[in-house]
Amino acid sequence: MADALSPLLTLNDSRTLPQLGLGVYKTTDDESAETVSFALQHGYRLVDTAAMYLNESGVGEGLRRSGLPREEVTLATKVWFTDNGFDSTLRSFDESLERLGTDYVDLYLIHWPAPANDLYVETWRALVRLREEGRARSIGVANFHPKHVTRLIDETGEVPSVNQVELHPWLPQSALREFDAEHGIVTQAWSPLARGHVFDASHGGDALEVVARKHGKSPAQVVIRWHLQLGNAVIPKSVTPSRIRENIDVFDFTLDAHDLAVIATLETGERTGVDPDDRN
Ligand SMILES: NC(=O)c1ccc[n+]([C@@H]2O[C@H](COP(=O)([O-])OP(=O)(O)OC[C@H]3O[C@@H](n4cnc5c(N)ncnc54)[C@H](OP(=O)(O)O)[C@@H]3O)[C@@H](O)[C@H]2O)c1
Repeated sequence: MADALSPLLTLNDSRTLPQLGLGVYKTTDDESAETVSFALQHGYRLVDTAAMYLNESGVGEGLRRSGLPREEVTLATKVWFTDNGFDSTLRSFDESLERLGTDYVDLYLIHWPAPANDLYVETWRALVRLREEGRARSIGVANFHPKHVTRLIDETGEVPSVNQVELHPWLPQSALREFDAEHGIVTQAWSPLARGHVFDASHGGDALEVVARKHGKSPAQVVIRWHLQLGNAVIPKSVTPSRIRENIDVFDFTLDAHDLAVIATLETGERTGVDPDDRN
């Protein structure tokens, strides 16, 4: 069993979050059990799932198979936007716990604001309740534009601890990161490798090869290191054992100003997913 490899970030609720964890989107229950157990045995301590991924049972199984005590692992999950609303969120949370086979999660997120439904403030009140009950240790949001976070704060006085958003070299989210930092919110990058397309030559991915060769690392390691140096939390997904190990082997090199300037040339503003304002 490897020791924990990722540094910890301190959240605005004084709890901690591993800066680097494992994403499990599009991973089946069986794959999740295997992948999560492997990752936890090789130094990961954070797993990011969601009710919508339909793999919370597998994630819970992977945690048990890993042999790690529950309290050493940060489990994060999310309420899907069709369950936004106070009572429906509490119900969905109970179902997530049941599937995960645990009596608390470390981080619970609103998956999307779905602004046209206008239920995200009520959803947030449910998350505050769950945190007060100690069943969600930390709470946050995903895919919230600054205007959505501002509304939560204005109407409830409660600041999210984490905002998990699409973020990669094509879409570095500079304004959002600045807003989050001003509010003590950790920005966590989803699709940190642009779903594996950040390496595509059509998107200037060869530039990453050059930086990678210079450091004796892979292009994926360069991109993950870029996230860490920006101060992001980051949750690359892989079901491939060699890549799972590669993606957390990023603490023995540093990108310099020239490398960061090369990576900055990949910015196009392109998303791999939808704009949060359009998800309803
Ligand atoms: N909040 C949200 O709305 C939201 C949305 C999307 C994602 N997420 C979270 O963010 C996590 C990560 O995002 P993502 O899964 O969309 O995409 P990602 O992590 O950017 O990319 C995953 C893809 O990259 C490949 N890959 C991983 N490591 C690699 C390496 N070292 N070299 C080459 N290819 C590599 C994977 O292949 P293999 O698996 O085949 O190895 C997979 O095809 C998700 O799993 C999920 O937990 C959240």
